[in-house]
Amino acid sequence: MQSAASQRLQTFDQAFVDSVIAERTGRPGALLGILQKVQEHQPAQYLPTEVLEYIAAKTATPLSRIYGVVTFYALFSLAPQGKNSVCICRGTACHTRGSRDLLEQAMMRLGLQQDQDGETESLSVTTPDGLTTLRTVACFGQCALAPVVEVNHTIFGHMNERSLQKALETLDLGGPLS
Ligand code: FES
Repeated sequence: MQSAASQRLQTFDQAFVDSVIAERTGRPGALLGILQKVQEHQPAQYLPTEVLEYIAAKTATPLSRIYGVVTFYALFSLAPQGKNSVCICRGTACHTRGSRDLLEQAMMRLGLQQDQDGETESLSVTTPDGLTTLRTVACFGQCALAPVVEVNHTIFGHMNERSLQKALETLDLGGPLS
């Protein structure tokens, strides 16, 4: 008999998740590896609640621990992602070297609005066309390169307005940025 989590997973690639769990279980860092592979397999590159529940049940891991991992590591997302990703570090080293200005520049270039409170410290927002997700992280662990920006999984250090513009021009938006 199928569990409730399993039954809710019918629209998801359950066979793939099962194969990843079987392949990774018992290895060092198994949970991280499982979550990473499953997210990569998702068309919108994220981890829906029902998938996390399924992984928790199948691996006998507390759901709270899985959420702890997913929310700790910047590479995981709980919401659908655009095919392009831009991630701007808002840690102290990057902040003191101008990351707020870079974030505001990226938001403007992508046509994204700040929320009403102007909150930009913790952000994950996708453009209305679904093409690009802009996120912030607390630290990339590359503080010597501050300010640091990641564009489509490539890390760029010592960023400034001009180099950020160049990096944003590499995004696949179906046309040039204005
Ligand atoms: S604060 Fe930005 S990389 Fe550490």
